Amino acid sequence: MIKNDSESYYSAAIKVAEMLAAYLAESQSGAMPVVKLKSIGAIRDELKIRELISEGGMDEWRLTEFLQKYLDNSMHMHHPNYIGHQVAVPHPAAALADMIHGLICNPMSIYEMGPSAAAIEKEMVNWMLEKVGWLESGAGLFTHGGSLANIHAMLAARADLDPESWTKGVQQDMVVLAPENTHYSIARAIGIIGLGQNAIIPIPTDQNEVVITEKLPRLIAKIRDDNKAIMAVIANACATSTGIYDPVDEMGDICHAYDCWFHVDSPHGASAILSTKYQHLLKGLEKADSLVWDAHKMMQTSSLSTGLLFRNKKHFYQTLAQKASYLIHDKENPGFDVLPYQIECTKSAIATKLFFVLAAIGENGMGEFITSLYDNSRHFARLINDRPGFICEIPVQSNIILFRYKPEKFDQLQLREKLIQSGAFYITSTEVKGIRYLRLVVMQTNTTAETIELLLDKITAIAGE
Ligand SMILES: Cc1ncc(COP(=O)(O)O)c(C=O)c1O
Repeated sequence: MIKNDSESYYSAAIKVAEMLAAYLAESQSGAMPVVKLKSIGAIRDELKIRELISEGGMDEWRLTEFLQKYLDNSMHMHHPNYIGHQVAVPHPAAALADMIHGLICNPMSIYEMGPSAAAIEKEMVNWMLEKVGWLESGAGLFTHGGSLANIHAMLAARADLDPESWTKGVQQDMVVLAPENTHYSIARAIGIIGLGQNAIIPIPTDQNEVVITEKLPRLIAKIRDDNKAIMAVIANACATSTGIYDPVDEMGDICHAYDCWFHVDSPHGASAILSTKYQHLLKGLEKADSLVWDAHKMMQTSSLSTGLLFRNKKHFYQTLAQKASYLIHDKENPGFDVLPYQIECTKSAIATKLFFVLAAIGENGMGEFITSLYDNSRHFARLINDRPGFICEIPVQSNIILFRYKPEKFDQLQLREKLIQSGAFYITSTEVKGIRYLRLVVMQTNTTAETIELLLDKITAIAGE
């Protein structure tokens, strides 16, 4: 049985590390299916989940047996044919940070519970603020994911418009303007903070679901004529479905002119700021009031690790005004407690994972990585368009590629279903303006032109069957 002592830990950890290293090598070589989808009951039985819970006694031998099956039934993110969701393929350095936290477990929301992790979070927030140009004026924190960060940002916008809503509840007729393809977490956030999802008013978009900026001023004026208060205007940078950036610069100018809170929902696309070639896609980002930046999307960090930044530090300090006297009280403290300013209470050392990756490859290395993914995706889109029967008509701005195969003949969803059932590739699918597309998100440089050629061969073969 794995025991609660250092010898047992060391011996089991070495075993796990050996198996994970083998898993990494095999995944990167692409020598097995990306994923084998089975029923949940089959996996429960194969892993002997129920027996292990009731009997305990996992020793090294049973751990090895269990872990092999666990890995076999997992999504192989490091496989070159993993081209599915916007989830980072973790750098081993990030995995080491997870391993360290897993044992020392320093929930660092209050400084004294994790001084090292708290110091790193503060520095990582400052690093992000500096990239956006907000180091002097702004403040921020790390949260478990972009969805939670969006709730927090919407609370900040609400507090700015109506500070009393925190104590008295939502009294005003508030609305939020957002493009129709805004991530669902925004709609959830609006529901959660009590505005009701009907408070979301769509901003008109073009055929690629990109905001038509010229229509925004009239929409704002009309809403105000109707005696509604605008809580926030939202831009996607980039949109989850298409990977295309809304015109942040122009939207920022309009929000300033009309005095509206401007939130840039950029968990995926904010990392382009690190790429000298592609940072122009985020021009005007500094005009936002709040923004979300996931490390676990484009910065090779395991899930979850998200930066939430405010241009004005006042919004960081004032948004959540509750007290918990056993945690928040005056004390002699050499550090900084983030707890009073975040939604979570206990929080793991999530910024440390990002730090570890940066410490390994450097910020220039990270910028080059992002440039490569964006460059490669443009190249892959051309390859797809050059193949007879394939259409790739939505512009590629980031590392997300949408395409269709003979749409007049084939149901794109069924093609995807068969493709992932085969285990050969993992890709996703989305709708843009009511049209169904196959969707690739290129998350690693291990995915090459050859990978894409094989994918097109496979789709053609599946359609032929
Ligand atoms: C634009 C956008 N906002 C919010 C989110 C939610 O982020 P998370 O998955 O970190 O909760 C996503 C995730 O894909 C996204 O693309």
